[in-house]
Amino acid sequence: MSAAVEVNHLSKRFRIYHERNQSLKVALMRGRRAKFDEFWALKDVDFEVPTGKTFGLVGHNGSGKSTLLKTMARILVPDRGGVEVHGKVSALLELGAGFHPELSGRDNVYLNGSILGLSRKEIDRRFDDIVGFAGLDEFIDTPVKNYSSGMYVRLGFSVAINVDPEILLIDEVLAVGDEEFQRKCMDKFHEFKEDGRTIVVVSHAMGTMRTLCDQVAWLSHGELQRIGGPNDVVDGYVEDAQTSARAQDDEQAYSREVSIEKAEVFGPSGPASPATTGQAATIRLHYAAKSPVADPVFKIGIHTVEGDYVTGPSSRVAGMDVDRTGTRGRVDIEVPRLDLLPGGYILSSAVYSADMKKAYHRPLPVRFDVAAGRSRETLGLMTLNGDWVHVTEGVAPPVLGR
Ligand SMILES: Nc1ncnc2c1ncn2[C@@H]1O[C@H](COP(=O)(O)OP(=O)(O)OP(=O)(O)O)[C@@H](O)[C@H]1O
Ligand SMILES: [Mg+2]
Repeated sequence: MSAAVEVNHLSKRFRIYHERNQSLKVALMRGRRAKFDEFWALKDVDFEVPTGKTFGLVGHNGSGKSTLLKTMARILVPDRGGVEVHGKVSALLELGAGFHPELSGRDNVYLNGSILGLSRKEIDRRFDDIVGFAGLDEFIDTPVKNYSSGMYVRLGFSVAINVDPEILLIDEVLAVGDEEFQRKCMDKFHEFKEDGRTIVVVSHAMGTMRTLCDQVAWLSHGELQRIGGPNDVVDGYVEDAQTSARAQDDEQAYSREVSIEKAEVFGPSGPASPATTGQAATIRLHYAAKSPVADPVFKIGIHTVEGDYVTGPSSRVAGMDVDRTGTRGRVDIEVPRLDLLPGGYILSSAVYSADMKKAYHRPLPVRFDVAAGRSRETLGLMTLNGDWVHVTEGVAPPVLGR
């Protein structure tokens, strides 16, 4: 089997410069040499991506996935080893990367197309397809700085797939966009696959990695940990992530009179169903207590993956008296209609003593995803679920020309 991408003992180093906030004068007086630490983001990574296959990259934050994709795209230069790419590459690497904020969507399509090696004529020919796929006809002459993140991704993705690449590199964009767009992307991936093109995709959405990929590689701290069939590798990765989360958790010195064993968020049909915008959801905390404890207070917090604080309810504020715990049990927060927009979120949780002065336990936060429901909104964090009404008042303006 031939290889579309050969990664040969690849290592990539970054330099982290210190004292960045010093004034120019001080920096100049100290001389030209800045102080820096070296950091190897990729260490002797060696594998091949077979031609015509869909290849996934998984790993914890900072494990080097984006760095690896960027070296495949020739945006970063290897420090040791190398990457050989056999075929025309198109990449969607970061949200809005390669877009010029002041330019319109139209101008950015031309700019990006030419960066990806198309002539003006070739872009002319594909222009309608690109805009149509992105669903941005109305906004194509608006400066992209006014686009929502969903619109950015749609346009970027649409350009990347419509320039006829043999190898497509995609970094963590599958979770963005509404349901319809996600489906269109999946269709496009399958079409690509049938055409015998190669896809390298990075994602934290493990379900998607299992179904989409022919092969998956797992990076850990810049090293290739495992490579193989998607289920094997994803299972290994998930298990490892849980084990290290537990180990870290145990290091924290909580008294654990009550401890939260597991926190989860799910949709209307029970624990296996995804939380979905506009549908009922349950946030469930499973607890254990050494012996029954009186009046503990449970608290949760929800942040976006970007770190914005969304909400932080507690059983006390909600007026729910836990009274006395069992030695095991659960606390459910039943949400009649989840108004969070689709995307990635972080759930933190904690259990306190009755006077709130002592945290019995605060487990590591967990990530959950909200799937797109019927809401077509993409801006902000939540949907108001409002009905729009228009009422005219006063006198109607005269019709011109009469
Ligand atoms: N330009 C840079 N300068 C210095 N350090 C960098 C640079 N780019 C990445 N890094 C560091 O290299 C490591 C790998 O980063 P990378 O973005 O490849 O991780 P990742 O696996 O894509 O993570 P995530 O899942 O969060 O996207 C991180 O520790 C990151 O801080
Ligand atoms: Mg990344």
